[in-house]
Amino acid sequence: MTIVCTGSIAFDYLMSFPGYFRDHILPDHLDSISLSFLVDAMVRQRGGTGPNIAYTLALLGERPLLVGTVGEDFAEYRACLESKGVDTHFVKVIRGEYSASFFANTDLSNNQIASFYTGAMAHAAEINIQELVGENPELVVISPNDPKAMAQYARQCQELGIPYLYDPSQQIVRLDPEELRMGVEGAQSLFVNAYEFELLQKHTHLTSNQILSLVEIMVVTLGKEGAIVYVEGEEYHIPSYPPEKIIDPTGVGDAFRGGFLRGYHLGLDWQTCGQMGSLAATYCLEQRGTQNHFYTPDEFVTRYRRCFDDRGVLDVLLDQS
Ligand SMILES: Nc1ncnc2c1ncn2[C@@H]1O[C@H](COP(=O)(O)OP(=O)(O)OP(=O)(O)O)[C@@H](O)[C@H]1O
Ligand SMILES: [Mg+2]
Repeated sequence: MTIVCTGSIAFDYLMSFPGYFRDHILPDHLDSISLSFLVDAMVRQRGGTGPNIAYTLALLGERPLLVGTVGEDFAEYRACLESKGVDTHFVKVIRGEYSASFFANTDLSNNQIASFYTGAMAHAAEINIQELVGENPELVVISPNDPKAMAQYARQCQELGIPYLYDPSQQIVRLDPEELRMGVEGAQSLFVNAYEFELLQKHTHLTSNQILSLVEIMVVTLGKEGAIVYVEGEEYHIPSYPPEKIIDPTGVGDAFRGGFLRGYHLGLDWQTCGQMGSLAATYCLEQRGTQNHFYTPDEFVTRYRRCFDDRGVLDVLLDQS
């Protein structure tokens, strides 16, 4: 049985401007802005919510199926994901397009000017979940993506009776409120951070208790405060895992989901699933980028046991590595 990861598949182009944007903006001339910043550093990183989650799952020994649409610039990214154990044969190349791309320029005071180009991601709704049935999907992860595709995947999962994890995140504000509500109502599990949980209540006109009663599993992440897992009428308080250094928080939410899901797929208890999410997130926090951290399942278990007691249940990860 396979975990299917859907979500944006993107490159992040990250630039650093060795000055202050504010010194270049003339408040009296805001109606005719023409700015060009000479930047002295740029990196291109692999990103997107779908591959980020799949990456962590693969590090932990899973073989997730990544689903989405990309541009002609994806070959190297595909090879990298495959080498880590992500199955990419359902990632469709759209001829003549670029992959979704996030361009961000950050100045010396950490102000950021960014643009997100949807590119090939705008074709994501051309994929029908029905096409995946032969892959034996156990769970479909619906992460931020083209809003049309997100709504369609949720509807198709409901029609096919395939459980899905709903992770609307930054698209909460872009999704049609009716579709957002439909997405929550049919979900097996819901993952949000604390801010998104508030936003979700506002946009769906559902109360926190109503949302809780709609889904089997709800996880609210709380940054360095950890997370809360709500399931079967219980609340599990999950501490975060102390990082050795904090380099870049981008992608920690995705890494948490990947770690949690690996535990879930192995049938581990909720506390362990949550704590696996915490440690997976901490690894991500300690490197720049969302897929530049690395560990083997053995290293993961050893580090886990330094802070948490798994009573031996994580031996199952060692047996698979
Ligand atoms: N400062 C921190 N120290 C340790 N762990 C952290 C820290 N920040 C985040 N985490 C871990 O990452 C998990 C997810 O964090 P958070 O709630 O910030 O997600 P998020 O807002 O969705 O992040 P993003 O969307 O930027 O990836 C937390 O539950 C925690 O385990
Ligand atoms: Mg997030």
